[in-house]
Amino acid sequence: MSQKDPWADKDFADRWDGKNHFRDNPDRGEQLDLIVSLLAGGCGADSLILDLGSGSGRVEELIFERIPGVRVAGVEASPSMMDIAKRRLATFGDRFIPVTGGMEDLAGLELPEGPYAFTISVQALHEVSHEEKKKIMADVYALLEPGGAFFVLDRVEFEGEALSVAYRSVWDRLNRKAGIKEGMSYEEYLKTYREKDDHVAPLEDQLSWLRGAGFRASCLYLHYNRALFAARRPEDS
Ligand SMILES: C[S@@+](CC[C@H](N)C(=O)[O-])C[C@H]1O[C@@H](n2cnc3c(N)ncnc32)[C@H](O)[C@@H]1O
Repeated sequence: MSQKDPWADKDFADRWDGKNHFRDNPDRGEQLDLIVSLLAGGCGADSLILDLGSGSGRVEELIFERIPGVRVAGVEASPSMMDIAKRRLATFGDRFIPVTGGMEDLAGLELPEGPYAFTISVQALHEVSHEEKKKIMADVYALLEPGGAFFVLDRVEFEGEALSVAYRSVWDRLNRKAGIKEGMSYEEYLKTYREKDDHVAPLEDQLSWLRGAGFRASCLYLHYNRALFAARRPEDS
């Protein structure tokens, strides 16, 4: 039976934030370090960043610790996840601007006034339909200042059944490299993802939708079924 992850459920949110946030993604630390490095390379002290699906604030914590001064508006649909984020980020004062609502309706949300130097989305775009993804990409393009960038970390279409020997080898290696002793087995991973009712898109489609929205875009990281896309609104647009 397929089902959507119950993000609004408080216990589910606590468990994900507690230890599940890297259980099905052993290379998450590397991915988050990469996205924060991309931001650190381009942010000024007064930069405003938009985060779509900001969850429990783990990404913001890394950003605030590493990049002085920047503020992040976090759009998050689950009040349970947002509550954890507010607690986690309380010490950073008004650098975190919580916006509870769906990223598929950015125009209907009370977002802080831009311009936005960057938009990011980490492990969240697969939650919305492909049509909504395309709309979000167009909305983000319009919200960003010319020269601004959209960094997307998310899953790409999984070919774990067609290429099971290759995927299993990479999965076992990822867990070994991350020093995870009692991680998820490959069988468990396959079962979990077979049952998920979400909207993961092929890598080629995600790139082509970003380009279709007007961005210059490329894939900067791809490992197993996780990718980081970098998309820039041209300076002269
Ligand atoms: C896997 S978590 C990632 C959280 C955070 N970005 C991180 O990496 O730590 C996905 C998040 O997307 C949120 N989400 C799901 N659908 C959403 C939507 N339509 N609009 C905004 N947030 C959404 C979920 O509630 C959840 O907090």
